[in-house]
Amino acid sequence: LNGATEGIPDITIRILLLGDSGVGKTSLMMRYSDDRFAYSLIATAGVDFKVKNMDIPNPAYNASSALPLSPSASLSLSPEEREMRILLSKPFLKVRCQIWDTAGQEKFHVITRAYYRGAHAIVTCFDVTDGDSFRNIDYWLANIHTHTERGGGGGGVQTMIIGNKTDLQEKRVVSKEQGQALAKECGVKYIETSAKDGSNVNIAFEQLATDVVSQM
Ligand code: GTP
Ligand code: MG
Repeated sequence: LNGATEGIPDITIRILLLGDSGVGKTSLMMRYSDDRFAYSLIATAGVDFKVKNMDIPNPAYNASSALPLSPSASLSLSPEEREMRILLSKPFLKVRCQIWDTAGQEKFHVITRAYYRGAHAIVTCFDVTDGDSFRNIDYWLANIHTHTERGGGGGGVQTMIIGNKTDLQEKRVVSKEQGQALAKECGVKYIETSAKDGSNVNIAFEQLATDVVSQM
């Protein structure tokens, strides 16, 4: 899988970032979209977004769709069928990924909730050096459940928990095992990242995009 790709995207997907203020949502988005990190950031007000294109393996890829058709078979296809055939012939899909970064501060929650419904995937983030942010994952997951039709991890919205700031090993108060146990209990995926050193950031977003595309 590689990063920015040329050309017209086949699919647009929306990934929403949730979690307490200061856990690193904006930093994760910046690392992924621009490969940058800043030590001091202003808390997000409301919602912000960035776009990044990626190539994702096509779950419906069918090599025989790339073979030329006889003129009569080709003529018998409707425009929709022709379009579908083109889509099936691509080993990789160009996915345009819109990352929606929300404010963790309580006063913005009424605004940010309006964005849950448009999301294909929702990431609830915590900071591995901040126990409160970990305990609040329950709050964020409950919010997803309440404010999406397809929420609750049951299908539709792909949900993931990210434990961020793994570069701060000496300050860590939430173990990887605790993170994994919570995610297992909630039936969602778990990945640990560092927006600062970049570890696992691309992997997390690509995993989400792959899961979204294979559910479509
Ligand atoms: P809100 O916008 O208020 O919801 O916060 P946020 O979740 O967007 O947090 P933000 O990305 O603004 O990061 C808060 C602080 O944590 C900033 O000072 C970042 O530099 C720092 N930070 C974010 N990610 C990491 C990380 O992986 N490691 C370290 N060491 N610091 C990080
Ligand atoms: Mg922010």
